[in-house]
Amino acid sequence: MSQISLSGIHKSFGSTEVLKGVSLDIEAGEFVTLVGPSGCGKSTLLRILAGLDSADTGDVRIQAQSVTQTRAADRNLAMVFQSYALYPHLSVAENMMTPLKMRELGWAGRLPIVGPLVARRACRDIHARVEAVAETLKITPLLARKPGQLSGGQRQRVALGRAMVRDPVAFLMDEPLSNLDAALRVHMRAELSELHRRLNATFVYVTHDQAEALTMSDRMAVMMQGEILQVGPPDEIYHNPASLAVARFIGSPAINVLPGEKLADGRVVLLGQRLFNVQSGQPRALFIGLRPEHLHLAAEGRFEGMISHRENLGSDLFLHLTLKEMDNPVVIRAHPDQARNVARGHNVRFDLDPAKVLFFEADGQRVTLDGARQLEVAQ
Ligand SMILES: Nc1ncnc2c1ncn2[C@@H]1O[C@H](COP(=O)(O)OP(=O)(O)OP(=O)(O)O)[C@@H](O)[C@H]1O
Ligand SMILES: [Mg+2]
Repeated sequence: MSQISLSGIHKSFGSTEVLKGVSLDIEAGEFVTLVGPSGCGKSTLLRILAGLDSADTGDVRIQAQSVTQTRAADRNLAMVFQSYALYPHLSVAENMMTPLKMRELGWAGRLPIVGPLVARRACRDIHARVEAVAETLKITPLLARKPGQLSGGQRQRVALGRAMVRDPVAFLMDEPLSNLDAALRVHMRAELSELHRRLNATFVYVTHDQAEALTMSDRMAVMMQGEILQVGPPDEIYHNPASLAVARFIGSPAINVLPGEKLADGRVVLLGQRLFNVQSGQPRALFIGLRPEHLHLAAEGRFEGMISHRENLGSDLFLHLTLKEMDNPVVIRAHPDQARNVARGHNVRFDLDPAKVLFFEADGQRVTLDGARQLEVAQ
């Protein structure tokens, strides 16, 4: 039984259907990322899991118990928001204590005579817990400061610390790194992965940044327009996308999508070149997906294009080629050592890695062509 199970979640705001029957199972200790473009429903789904919003229909289960009727505070899930939501007038230590105090001191702490006694004992435990968490996150020297005296990365760690002191069933994070500058985001990505390994806790992480999803998660769920299109480990999503929409969303620079054709005699043709022979049958149009790293410059290459733009990143060189046959440029990854020989306006020849070609039907669904085993690369 999964630790967290969302099934058939529907949610509409007014007449807009924002979640269209989303199901997702998350195992204990997994780092699962919900990734998708802005507005696809990621935060809504996370809020429904947290209990901050309710689904119209569908079931949320945590540790096999349905929590659909359980208040957010009783679900024991810790939410870390993009804005961190720290109290500005409280110190770091007090910020971290607040959720624990609310839980531990509850009604008993408010009793007239017993209350202060209960409170004193609970406070000692709470202090010890905060100190232990601060140690883990290396923020002990910051405990007396106010949030206004911290850097973005430090605030982020305090928000995480506040979530950790409660020892939750799972951490739910909604774009927690998006307020940080690019370098710090990359650094915090590594820190979060490390923290996840050390805590061995369940992380459900929402982002629209595919780099975050690809680098941190055990599995990613790609969401679009209120639906999960594919769930799987990052490698699988990248190399084996189930649809053109997933292939296009994941990968930077984006996958090249070229118009192809399967002819009645079984030839598969791309830009006038025969690519494969497959079983003969219904002729039809196809989309052919090729990632920039699966194309290469080659003096004898079968395709030709004119360099319209070069992006030299130092470690990689991306060439944008304009082809006679296409409106959109094709992007190729070349080695930076080749940069000297390629200038804007040059015509170059290129070829592809046939084993890496992805086929999609006209409606965007991935397809393995019949007779795929007999595929032969045409000369
Ligand atoms: N309370 C609300 N009332 C009406 N519409 C809402 C409400 N909350 C969200 N929406 C709409 O639901 C859709 C999904 O919103 P949601 O915040 O879940 O998207 P998201 O995937 O988290 O996007 P982002 O990456 O921009 O944070 C959006 O079109 C949004 O405008
Ligand atoms: Mg959001």
